[in-house]
Amino acid sequence: MKYIIANWKANKNYVEARDWIETFFQQNFTQLSAQVHIVICPPYPFIPFLFEAVKDRPYIKIGSQDVSVFEAGAYTGEVTAKSLSSIVDYSLIGHSERRQHFHETQEALLQKTKLANEHSITPLFCIRSTEDPIPDNVKFIVYEPVESIGTGNNAEVEQVLKVKEKLHITSSTQFIYGGSVTEENAGSYLSCPEIDGVLPGSASLDPLKFYKIVASTLKN
Ligand code: PGA
Repeated sequence: MKYIIANWKANKNYVEARDWIETFFQQNFTQLSAQVHIVICPPYPFIPFLFEAVKDRPYIKIGSQDVSVFEAGAYTGEVTAKSLSSIVDYSLIGHSERRQHFHETQEALLQKTKLANEHSITPLFCIRSTEDPIPDNVKFIVYEPVESIGTGNNAEVEQVLKVKEKLHITSSTQFIYGGSVTEENAGSYLSCPEIDGVLPGSASLDPLKFYKIVASTLKN
């Protein structure tokens, strides 16, 4: 089973999100549905609509791109784990863009991980290197080297495996690679038994490109 996670980042409006899912659903999932877990991480406003849209397709789940460091309460503008709890299964935590632009600290990431877990949301915990501490009980680690994000300079499989080795993670932890994943290079990661999935950003914005990444699971 491979995890293919779409990170739309801060892109798309409602019509574009609707067109994306319509086009995506027109593709053939007959063989794929038993082999992949697809997670779509859209901007917050599209989560409820996409959650409804994928309901009859158990191999597609919805994730958020972040979760608040706060519990429910007087925090105007925040989106808490409680609010997300029944409409997402996953949440990206610690993406390097949030660490960089929103100055997220390790302490904040620990708190976000704790709140997500308490509300039955599975953290997809992102690290930039082996230097980034990983909270206990994280079952999904997403390795995304900063120099590979949005640059076309994807890390080679050997480098990804070296990082995994250094992390000494248990066999029950899923290890996912992200950073310039495309339909051309996705197969090299997905054919590797030690890599449990990929997380494309830019290539997930086009439903056909994203489908090709998903479909490359079958070629291996
Ligand atoms: P990219 O983004 O595929 O556009 O490099 C990946 C990510 O930042 O999650």
